[in-house]
Amino acid sequence: MNILILGGGGREHAFSWKINQSALCQQLFIAPGNAGTASCGTNIDLNPNDFDQIKAFAIAQKITMIVVGPEAPLVKGIYNFLKNDPQTKDIIIIGPSKEGAMLEGSKAYAKKFMQDFNIPTAAYQEFTTETLQKGLAFIDTQQPPIVLKADGLAAGKGVLILDDKEKAKEELKSMLNGKFGDASTTVVIEAFLDGIEFSVFVLTDGKDYKVLPIAKDYKRIGEGDKGLNTGGMGAVSPVAFVDATLMKKVDERIIQPTIRGLKEKEIIYKGFVFIGLISVKNEPYVIEYNCRMGDPETEVVLPRLKNDLVDLFLRLDNGTLKSSTIDIDERAATTIMLVSGGYPEAYEKGKAIAGFEQVEDSIIFHAGTKTVDNTILTNGGRVIAVTSYGKDFKEALITSNKNAHLIDFEGKYFRKDIGFDL
Ligand code: AMP
Ligand code: GLY
Repeated sequence: MNILILGGGGREHAFSWKINQSALCQQLFIAPGNAGTASCGTNIDLNPNDFDQIKAFAIAQKITMIVVGPEAPLVKGIYNFLKNDPQTKDIIIIGPSKEGAMLEGSKAYAKKFMQDFNIPTAAYQEFTTETLQKGLAFIDTQQPPIVLKADGLAAGKGVLILDDKEKAKEELKSMLNGKFGDASTTVVIEAFLDGIEFSVFVLTDGKDYKVLPIAKDYKRIGEGDKGLNTGGMGAVSPVAFVDATLMKKVDERIIQPTIRGLKEKEIIYKGFVFIGLISVKNEPYVIEYNCRMGDPETEVVLPRLKNDLVDLFLRLDNGTLKSSTIDIDERAATTIMLVSGGYPEAYEKGKAIAGFEQVEDSIIFHAGTKTVDNTILTNGGRVIAVTSYGKDFKEALITSNKNAHLIDFEGKYFRKDIGFDL
């Protein structure tokens, strides 16, 4: 098969690394990819959101499967675009239809979906400019912290948690006034849930499903999970507190009704559902749905998956997912993200990265990198993910920490405390 992966971060390098191991894959292309994906396949300078370009490339290269990494093309409807075109309708697309991607693309839609299918989540109301006064009055009835969420995609910045009602009212006005552009024309206000977060990844064809290894990511820039939110500074898999009892609740109360919801609403969904969960006194609640894999969670989930990923993807298409068995490596995996100085605020790009050859016992996934004149340079906020195995996440962390010190570039920063709360 000729396979095209869309995206260019650590998640997509992990996908390329895994797909490159499959005998079912003849040619692998990554658009746009990064310096790391170039060692697994061929990078193509295409924008994943330019559907016409993707279509032309897919036809020219006889692509038979497209794996969509990031949410933006899915929410914009790449599935429907390619499936509605006679020239590309037979390409297997890993990722949901536009309707399915709404689970991530609209928080109000996702909340309504959860309400309709009795899926535990924080109580909520939604507001627009027309209902601003009601929104302000609603904030008055709430106990801080107040959680405000932009309805649409806001590059991971659309959730605000405020300790003060007056501040929350100011923010509600500012969001409805376009703080996040069109993404915040509707704002969801929901109850604050106090607990510990984890992530569940479900592979589904919209009818059957398989659960992949559980993971937990660390989103804040500073140690002890303090400071600004980032795309993710590291992750572990598995997550010790997510035991069989908690997973049974997640399966029965959350995963099964989610899949039933997709089926009942006749939503075409062949891809990943990434469920962000919070355990409040051992009771699971959904914080959010994403219609794709997580980054950096993919960098610990795929190294623990022993199955041929292309085979699993084929099963999404041919209806045999149910009869497959997910085979998980018993070892734990931990990843540490090396980031550019200043990230998640302003940072510089183009710094030479050295020390790859000194790394032992870790898998290096590139996130923001590019090759110029045979030198690998930083090309983003998150630069390199260092993944290691161990008998538990702590042992894996020691190896990742050692190698995180060996890879070097000007301004490099990383957290040494991934998994600190486990
Ligand atoms: P998101 O940008 O949607 O990933 O959300 C950012 C973070 O906000 C989540 O990872 C949670 O830590 C936090 N969060 C979102 N909703 C709630 C909630 N209802 N209660 C507590 N924390 C929340
Ligand atoms: N690591 C969180 C995400 O991918 O959304």
